[in-house]
Amino acid sequence: MNKIHIFDTTLRDGEQVPGCKLNTTEKIEVALRLEALGVDIIEAGFPISSPGDFQSVQQIAATVKDVTVCGLSRAVLKDIEAAAEALRPARRPRIHTGIGTSDSHIRAKFNATREEILERAVQCVKWAKNFVDDVEFYAEDAGRTDNEYLARVVEAVIAAGATVVNIPDTTGYCLPYQYGEKIAFLMNNVPNIDKAILSCHCHNDLGLATANSIAGIMSGARQIECTINGIGERAGNTSLEEVVMIINQHQHLGLYTDIDTRQLNPMSRLVSDTMRMPVQPNKAIVGGNAFSHSSGIHQDGFLKDAQTYEIINPEQVGADSSKIVLTARSGRSALAYRFRKLGHEFNRDEVDQLYAEFLIMADQKKEIHDEDLQKLATLVVVSVER
Ligand code: KIV
Ligand code: ZN
Repeated sequence: MNKIHIFDTTLRDGEQVPGCKLNTTEKIEVALRLEALGVDIIEAGFPISSPGDFQSVQQIAATVKDVTVCGLSRAVLKDIEAAAEALRPARRPRIHTGIGTSDSHIRAKFNATREEILERAVQCVKWAKNFVDDVEFYAEDAGRTDNEYLARVVEAVIAAGATVVNIPDTTGYCLPYQYGEKIAFLMNNVPNIDKAILSCHCHNDLGLATANSIAGIMSGARQIECTINGIGERAGNTSLEEVVMIINQHQHLGLYTDIDTRQLNPMSRLVSDTMRMPVQPNKAIVGGNAFSHSSGIHQDGFLKDAQTYEIINPEQVGADSSKIVLTARSGRSALAYRFRKLGHEFNRDEVDQLYAEFLIMADQKKEIHDEDLQKLATLVVVSVER
């Protein structure tokens, strides 16, 4: 009841990022690492979309062993058949099928009525059930779908056999309290909700994907759909590393995942390198600066006790050890610490003297490196020799 299933869609929604397309060999490498990381479900692709994607899903299905492999489809019979065929070698196959449920999707995309969409939703789940037991239904644009109607759709697809019902905030529009209330509404108003798991699939158009997913699980959803480094359509999806570490850090929520957190940084680097998509330095958990301290006040506190400014030990997420970065905002204790690391023990007067020189240098440069410190150190050595 308290396990949050991690559904990784790096290879499907993540791979929709322009310029991030992977070939089958690269996808298999990522899939194997996701399996080792401990994700519960890998969404391997959208088999009907291209022969290459079909082949990738098929080969991933044949390669991984301890994880569910999922293929996306629209609520279209030939899509579902293609997904079923690609997933045939999988030990644990899942078909992910669905349709837009917001009035905007119903009118603009399908020129249909709510009742017609409800019927198609049920039909696609029933069709998918002919091929696999595990069928996930997505109500696209659920974030902007009327809750009463959404509850009717969710009840009907569960009755048709859906094991998981995905409630995507496709446009990243919801505020966390609204998304949380939506999940709570479904938990409280869908009579057969105990027969399925609700899933959060949040996009990051307003920077709220992670917050919305957490609001969703706090209201009863038990699966999060996410990507490594938060990559995905437009502003991206929920970041796997962020939701996993939020659940890990906030034990009072009483929730857990099966992710091996020490693999988060290596996994992030693999995806970034393979997709040739750099990670922003200030990205939580996996950014280059996530464990760097540069202001004097922070450095002083951190050097006295790391927990003053770090809530996560970098080792816990497989990151390099914390860095004390020297800039014109750094203080004496950080300077003395970095000198000590280079083998120079200076007394207080010497550090004072060096600090004045350091600030002049630091005002001219963005960052002071070891070679700059070695030059500075000679100033003291020279004055001592005299
Ligand atoms: O964002 C979305 O609604 C999706 C669905 C296809 C699940 O990616
Ligand atoms: Zn999506």
